[in-house]
Amino acid sequence: MQSFSELEKWVDEVKNLCQPDSIHFVTGDKAEEKSFFEELVRDQKAIQLNPLLRPNSYAFFSDPSDVARVEKRTFIASNKKEDAGPTNNWIEPQKLKKIMTKLYKGSMKGRTMYVIPYVMGPIDAPISKIGIEITDSLYVVVNMIKMTRTGTQVLDKIKNETPFYIGLHSIGAPKKNGVIDSMWPCAKMQKKYIAHFPDEKLIWSYGSGYGGNALLGKKCLALRIASKIAYDEGWMAEHMLILKLTNPDLESKYILGAFPSACGKTNLSMLIPTIPGWKVETIGDDIAWIWMKEDGKLYAINPEKGFFGVAKGTSYRSNPNAMKAIEKNTIFTNVALTDDLDVWWEGIDKEKPKHLKDWQLHNYDISCTYPAAHPNSRFTVEATESPVLANEWEDPNGVLISAILIGGRRPSTIPLVHEALSWKHGVFMGSMMGSEITAATISDQIGMVRRDPFAMLPFIGYHVGDYLQHWIDMGQKANQEFLPKIYYVNWFRKNDDGQFMWPGFGENSRVLKWIFERVDQKASAKLTPIGYVPDRDSIDLSNLDVSEKDIEALTEIDVNLWFDEVKSIRAYYKTIGNKCPIDLVNELNQLEFRLKNY
Ligand code: GDP
Ligand code: PGA
Ligand code: MN
Ligand code: MN
Repeated sequence: MQSFSELEKWVDEVKNLCQPDSIHFVTGDKAEEKSFFEELVRDQKAIQLNPLLRPNSYAFFSDPSDVARVEKRTFIASNKKEDAGPTNNWIEPQKLKKIMTKLYKGSMKGRTMYVIPYVMGPIDAPISKIGIEITDSLYVVVNMIKMTRTGTQVLDKIKNETPFYIGLHSIGAPKKNGVIDSMWPCAKMQKKYIAHFPDEKLIWSYGSGYGGNALLGKKCLALRIASKIAYDEGWMAEHMLILKLTNPDLESKYILGAFPSACGKTNLSMLIPTIPGWKVETIGDDIAWIWMKEDGKLYAINPEKGFFGVAKGTSYRSNPNAMKAIEKNTIFTNVALTDDLDVWWEGIDKEKPKHLKDWQLHNYDISCTYPAAHPNSRFTVEATESPVLANEWEDPNGVLISAILIGGRRPSTIPLVHEALSWKHGVFMGSMMGSEITAATISDQIGMVRRDPFAMLPFIGYHVGDYLQHWIDMGQKANQEFLPKIYYVNWFRKNDDGQFMWPGFGENSRVLKWIFERVDQKASAKLTPIGYVPDRDSIDLSNLDVSEKDIEALTEIDVNLWFDEVKSIRAYYKTIGNKCPIDLVNELNQLEFRLKNY
């Protein structure tokens, strides 16, 4: 859409369709946010945490059906089925609109309809995108206020004819007269639809109130729709953290990392190095928009304004910076509650109290054997609460990219770190990336390894073959001298007892240091069939508590396992069909050839 009058017309249409009791345009100011939280507590949709322990913070508890993204109910409704590719669910767009229009009819009865003007990216960055989300969920509103730049200044942009993208969201639970609302109203699973119409750049979401399904700026606009816009316009929208790494000589580099949901992006983006003199600062923890400037170099911005992080496992030991960021002004979802109204989850520093309320607000004591917090429990907090936010985190010019990491949860085969032989080989590594499915999506296959190219499997808004070709093309267009190097990392190797062999978290700084020095051509490496791996004395392992045997295993290349891998990648490429880039098939053949000669 292009103009304010179009926006007014759309708001009117939605009002007539969804029949809310009232309409509220979100201004984004502090007083308004405060009154939203007061209303949420008054309506028993949220619990205010103990202000002495956790000032200005609130906890929400979802319906058990609504705890994560729902890939089965997520659709890329492109005009042609072929354009959605083999990795997306597709329904003919007119048919889907008919189904959803029926659902939207009267779906906001008894509720307020909020119109949220927001911008993904710093408001004046050339690459930023404006969105309007209509929603009937105040939970969504308060989360969008923390996660995106929201408010009246965005409407002024629209009045000056900046184009914008619209998204309609309803929890799909009209209020019935005389019936008391539940704490988290939403629709049944089979009525949830997270729909994208990439040809129109339109988003319709129905039936779920959960973050990735309902905060439309994040996964729906900044990844699925933006990936398609980026493909058409020649840039990239990626599921990546952005960090700034500074060495003891105070030289800095910017590094991106693509890991699937719940595989360590937020942690890596704010880690505290265990090696002296090194520093990590955060630019972004989930999404990077990447583009090439006239100098042929690649730059990135973080389109978001906050963190929607996994709570479970977060502690002052594993991620002190995240713990400091969530000491106040934070929204928690599906965590457990202590008797003095603070938050608790498995893996937090504090020992499990004798009594808790679990994430369903049921009484929970030592006799309970299930987890008290949901494995996908989350915190929402503004980036500015972080003690390690880089100064340039909202520089509209973006940051120059030196290296791109890819990775995921692979209990075997993939070593701790290996460097791609070339950009194309790096794209090959990204294409075959696999990871165990985590609780960040609702699935009956949690723990099983699946291919998740560049951690974008649930987020590519078009054909995966075109997506991979686009990666190759971007590298070809760039200035070859300044192409970022690509690294495959794996913090999740397990030993025979099922224990992680690598301590991870702050210790990952040892790998970051090696990468920094590789980029500067200062660290040595060993050439193997799969790429460059660190030489034993080129990676800093001083004062590290890992056995010799485990170090050996973490860096070894098991040729037989890699032959299995080659076979499985070949089968995977078949599923991509004839759009699978020929360059990647060549890379696979070359890998097989190198393995045979190893
Ligand atoms: P994100 O969803 O990709 O941002 O992942 P998070 O950084 O939120 O981490 C998800 C889960 O993985 C949390 O439970 C973390 O504690 C855990 N995790 C993160 N980094 C590491 C690591 O280096 N090693 C291990 N073993 N676990 C990690
Ligand atoms: P995550 O973000 O990648 O930090 O888990 C949420 C998601 O991808 O659902
Ligand atoms: Mn994510
Ligand atoms: Mn995260």
